[in-house]
Amino acid sequence: MTKQDNIFAEATQAIGDFNFGKQTAEVFDDMLDRSVPLYQELQRMLGEIAAEFAESGSNVYDLGCSTGITLETLRGAITAAGKQVHMVGLDYSQPMLDRAGDRFAGLPEDERPQLIHADLNQGCVVENASVVVLNLTLQFVRPLYRNRLIHRIADGLNENGCLILVEKVLSNDSLLNRMFIKFYYDMKRRNGYSDTEIALKREALENVLVPYRIEENAEMLKHNGFTEVDTFFKWYNFAGILAVKKRSE
Ligand SMILES: C[S@@+](CC[C@H](N)C(=O)[O-])C[C@H]1O[C@@H](n2cnc3c(N)ncnc32)[C@H](O)[C@@H]1O
Repeated sequence: MTKQDNIFAEATQAIGDFNFGKQTAEVFDDMLDRSVPLYQELQRMLGEIAAEFAESGSNVYDLGCSTGITLETLRGAITAAGKQVHMVGLDYSQPMLDRAGDRFAGLPEDERPQLIHADLNQGCVVENASVVVLNLTLQFVRPLYRNRLIHRIADGLNENGCLILVEKVLSNDSLLNRMFIKFYYDMKRRNGYSDTEIALKREALENVLVPYRIEENAEMLKHNGFTEVDTFFKWYNFAGILAVKKRSE
């Protein structure tokens, strides 16, 4: 069972940069549910899109898989569509991967997703892929390494495969930006976070989570060979982008 996220509830505690260590892993499912707008609907959409693009005999990757929630969603939707794929989850946090391991421990060994401990800043191996998911993860990869990572993903995707990218995003206009962020913090308040928790987490994420504008993400995707790039989800400062590597005619 996941504990409630109280990490930033104590105003007196010394706050360092946000990290994905043991303390975060223990409360992470609750954190996602209360901090990501429409998280359940997003999960449903990820499953539905992935089931459409998944090809039997290929690999499906969730990069930055955390505790394996999205892997579980993808697996359910793809299996229900009658397709057999090899699922791979990757994360640089061992405590997150341990929880993902627990999630799938009840499955027969050959049906468990492969879990890889690796740092996306160093790149990663993607091969024979029909679907790759980066759900709220690219924003944590250092900007210097993002283009290389997207290039590797595009390279490892089969023709007609897709990358599903969900990110916090910036608006072009500073007024709208401030308004969207205010609405986001209002949502967190409605979900039970105090002003102190919101402020401390904001501070801890500074310089760790670096959002791009939708257009910057789209440009990077097209530059690396994705032929179709469209926004499938937008909630104020959150966006979901579907990028497809179509067969060259
Ligand atoms: C916000 S969480 C992602 C949520 C998850 N993908 C989901 O579907 O709910 C970001 C995850 O990316 C991982 N991560 C961040 N930077 C990473 C990096 N450079 N390499 C590998 N994993 C990274 C973190 O450990 C964390 O588990």
